[in-house]
Amino acid sequence: MSEAQQRAWNDVSPRMLIPVERDAASTSIRKGSTIDPAAVWGRTAPLIVEIGSGQGHAIVHAATAQPGANFLAVEVFRAGLARTMLDADQANLDNLRLVEGNAPEVLEHLLPSASVDELWIFFPDPWHKKKHTKRRLVTAEFAALAASVLRPNGVLRLATDWQDYADQMVSVLDAAPEFTRAFDGDWAPRFDGRVLTAFERKGTRAGREIRDLTYRRSA
Ligand SMILES: C[S@@+](CC[C@H](N)C(=O)[O-])C[C@H]1O[C@@H](n2cnc3c(N)ncnc32)[C@H](O)[C@@H]1O
Repeated sequence: MSEAQQRAWNDVSPRMLIPVERDAASTSIRKGSTIDPAAVWGRTAPLIVEIGSGQGHAIVHAATAQPGANFLAVEVFRAGLARTMLDADQANLDNLRLVEGNAPEVLEHLLPSASVDELWIFFPDPWHKKKHTKRRLVTAEFAALAASVLRPNGVLRLATDWQDYADQMVSVLDAAPEFTRAFDGDWAPRFDGRVLTAFERKGTRAGREIRDLTYRRSA
């Protein structure tokens, strides 16, 4: 971490980082440590969660643009969380919280069921080598966890620049009984609430198409 990130970690995390009880691994979430969103954010408001928020560019931008919504950044990369807090603090955000945690465990143990209005997964690690694809986040098991935290009619937004991962997302989510497509044609239009991040820029520069997907949790 840079000096500024370390300072943000020390000074801002007491306000923004949700303290969590761990299991064995350092980014695990202990079973039974469900939060009460009204207490964490100090109000009841629509909740938007970004998984794998990286440096936080998308979520800081969105939280600034939508002060009426509560936002949660979920990330395992501590320097990214520190960078997010640094920017959120400079923007005087009080509607953003962060959790240092493994996303599937955050969905299973930290978030109450049917508490989330939108769940975002933008440019998840592609694990594009054939022998690594089984490490990908978006699987049938993950879809079931995502469905469990989304409210009825809640929205799942995804984006990737890897065509075979986009195809995998479509086959997993089309097969998930809790989700229905919220787009016509092969792909969703680009989500205009998504700012351009380095990952999207890198994919485009390499000549890859960016694929957006939007699904709705069945009522
Ligand atoms: C390719 S980066 C994209 C970051 C960001 N969404 C963007 O578009 O700039 C993927 C991010 O997902 C995070 N990540 C990977 N696996 C995760 C997991 N199991 N739980 C939480 N975050 C995870 C990584 O640390 C990384 O920051």
